[in-house]
Amino acid sequence: MTQIKLFCPATIANLSCGFDVLGLCLDNAGDEMIVRKVDQKGVRITKIVGADLPLETEKNVSGVAALAMLEAYESHFKVIDFGFEIEIYKHIKAGSGIGSSAASSAGAVFGINELLGQPYSRKDLVQFAMQGEKLASGNAHADNVAPALLGGFTLVRSYAPLDIIRIDSPEELFATVVHPQIELKTSDARSVLKQNVSLKSAIMQWGNVGGLIAGLYTKDYDLIGRSLHDEIVEPLRSVLIPGFDQIKQTALENGALGSGISGSGPSIFALSRGKNTADQIAKAMSEVYENMNLPYEIHVSKINPDGVRIL
Ligand code: HSE
Repeated sequence: MTQIKLFCPATIANLSCGFDVLGLCLDNAGDEMIVRKVDQKGVRITKIVGADLPLETEKNVSGVAALAMLEAYESHFKVIDFGFEIEIYKHIKAGSGIGSSAASSAGAVFGINELLGQPYSRKDLVQFAMQGEKLASGNAHADNVAPALLGGFTLVRSYAPLDIIRIDSPEELFATVVHPQIELKTSDARSVLKQNVSLKSAIMQWGNVGGLIAGLYTKDYDLIGRSLHDEIVEPLRSVLIPGFDQIKQTALENGALGSGISGSGPSIFALSRGKNTADQIAKAMSEVYENMNLPYEIHVSKINPDGVRIL
């Protein structure tokens, strides 16, 4: 095999209570990528369609993630006398809050790993894809790349050492994600955060993280909903998102289990039980932005159990 075509899924990070540690993988929103093995050594981005992103390998998240992986491969396994080309077909907008950079980073390392004969597990690939996130936002967070690579829900239990736990989604869980058409850079959305939190807030936050994980394992939809609460980050970031309070309120009134900022925003997500409710929430969210005359995109998606996949 010398060429592979991939679907690189969008993801929702944080999930309200789990800043930088929780994420889930979406099913029907994502990019496409072609990774090709070529004679010339190194990594080249040969084509980007759908976005104005740098082609230079060291300035592109896919390139940086791929280089990190190949450096590790050559030092642990063997030096290779060939290289790789990457074509990226972007559908996820940069700065949308549904893991645009993560999809590209995850796709690149997954594709190269396949063409090398799978020397690494999907979990092993997370550390390399994180280097793309570092380039994109200044911080090597894993809460988008982990679900993009592993599918389902993921918890980053620890960053040093990296310890990632994948959790199956309850069958009937659906996500609705609305993207008001403004760009919010993750680095900007991180700059509004405080470096310290109160013990009172921390207690509420870790109670909810535990509750959400327990809810996922026991398929307790109400517990999942009660746990989708963010004491720490949402109050500081929500002011950057037009109509946030109204969208969230609308989602809850229309049957959402919970709702919050998707990743670093400006997208807003809601989780619900069953597709009908998720569709109804999408309709109600759309009306809010239509009344505000604000262009938006909306997705209703099952939780994707697989992560990046070969097309
Ligand atoms: N955890 C990251 C943040 C996700 O909220 O900054 C960015 O998509």
